[in-house]
Amino acid sequence: MVEMAARHARASFFPALGGDLPTIVRAEGIYLYDDAGRRLIDAAGGVGAVTSIGHGVHEVIDAIAAQLRTVAFVPWTQFQSEPAQRLAEAVAEMTPRGLNGVALFNSGSEVTEGAVKLARQYWLARGKPDKHLVVSRWQGFHGMTLGASGFSGHTQRRRKYQPMIHDMPKIGPAYAYRCADCASGSLRCADELERVIRWHGPENVSCFIAEPVVGYFQRIREICDRYDVLFIADEVMSGFGRTGRWFAIEHWDTAPDILVAAKGVSGGYAPLAVLAAHEQVVGALRHAGTPWVTGHTYAQNPVSAAAGLAVLDYLQRHDLVRAAHERGDQLRAGLQGLIGRHRILGDVRGMGLLLGVELVQDRATRAPFPVEAGMAFRFGRACVEEGAAVYPGQSGADGLVGDHALVTPPLVITPEQVDDLVGAIDRALTRTEGTIG
Ligand SMILES: Cc1ncc(COP(=O)(O)O)c(C=O)c1O
Repeated sequence: MVEMAARHARASFFPALGGDLPTIVRAEGIYLYDDAGRRLIDAAGGVGAVTSIGHGVHEVIDAIAAQLRTVAFVPWTQFQSEPAQRLAEAVAEMTPRGLNGVALFNSGSEVTEGAVKLARQYWLARGKPDKHLVVSRWQGFHGMTLGASGFSGHTQRRRKYQPMIHDMPKIGPAYAYRCADCASGSLRCADELERVIRWHGPENVSCFIAEPVVGYFQRIREICDRYDVLFIADEVMSGFGRTGRWFAIEHWDTAPDILVAAKGVSGGYAPLAVLAAHEQVVGALRHAGTPWVTGHTYAQNPVSAAAGLAVLDYLQRHDLVRAAHERGDQLRAGLQGLIGRHRILGDVRGMGLLLGVELVQDRATRAPFPVEAGMAFRFGRACVEEGAAVYPGQSGADGLVGDHALVTPPLVITPEQVDDLVGAIDRALTRTEGTIG
């Protein structure tokens, strides 16, 4: 038995080399329960913003079980399934104007890569074979695969693989806390897209991909239209209600050519990502008679689709998009109220229940902590001690340093639970400050 335990400790090396993370044994509503009997608010939303409708929802579990009993898997290159068809119809109904062509995948990385491949095929179908470059933003994240790393700007997640990455052009991040232009409402950072397109030659640029949460997307849309560049909205985190609208792009009163989303659409009950393409994009492929070459084994999966249908139904029936807006305002105000009380809390930002905090060594100068101090991770552990799981990360300030944590609780969080979460983060900040020598 002892030998077995030792073997298990060795076998599990990811993500902690020692395999020694706390074990979650149960989850219900907004709470995770670990094997030490602790109850934690799941304010990490799983990883990022997955847990949308909370844990243990019976309707979703029943829908998945029923689909498993009916048909668990179909050879999707030759057959279709009823839930995949129904989910495609439902997504097409919800997405912004014209985004009526829907495909189902399993992860954010798969679907962002799928989107840039679809953009490429669109230009081939339109007789513009030179258009291949994918422009994105430094600090933007679009996936961990080597392809997605090429058009992702998350420096820390790219650096070790840099020699293997097929790099794509990037513009600077839209970062109001650290960019005077963005803070002043200037469009200079959006206009950088135009400069980069011109430098590389519009005839070579296929698409621009970004998360439509920060930035000026009406200007981005204008620039893309001017230079015949497709705009891909990466709503892997922000989609399906998290920001207080069905899709974050709706806050900008404009629409992309391709929208991708994942996490919240199945709320953690099954791996699911969706792509919705404008009818002109799909129409060009149809007209050219060139089907989209892409897909992974578990694409168009009927069980994931059944989970997605049940989650969307739950979001609608419980009016959770409005709840995300209201509870988001409450949570952001609560966290902003902590700024004066904690010298390390530099900024609180975000939309709806997609919120984040940035920690700094000096609030007046906004100077970050040295990266080796691991402040974000100290804060993450302090939150767990105080009853909340947030999602810490580093290197956001300039690509090398910076400490932040995402605070993305499920959309079903109640007003009282929001207060509890603010209380836990308040105590965790005090605890973290206590670790500074
Ligand atoms: C905006 C965005 N795009 C893409 C991805 C990649 O998704 P996945 O981890 O499911 O591959 C993520 C993951 O966090 C994300 O936040």
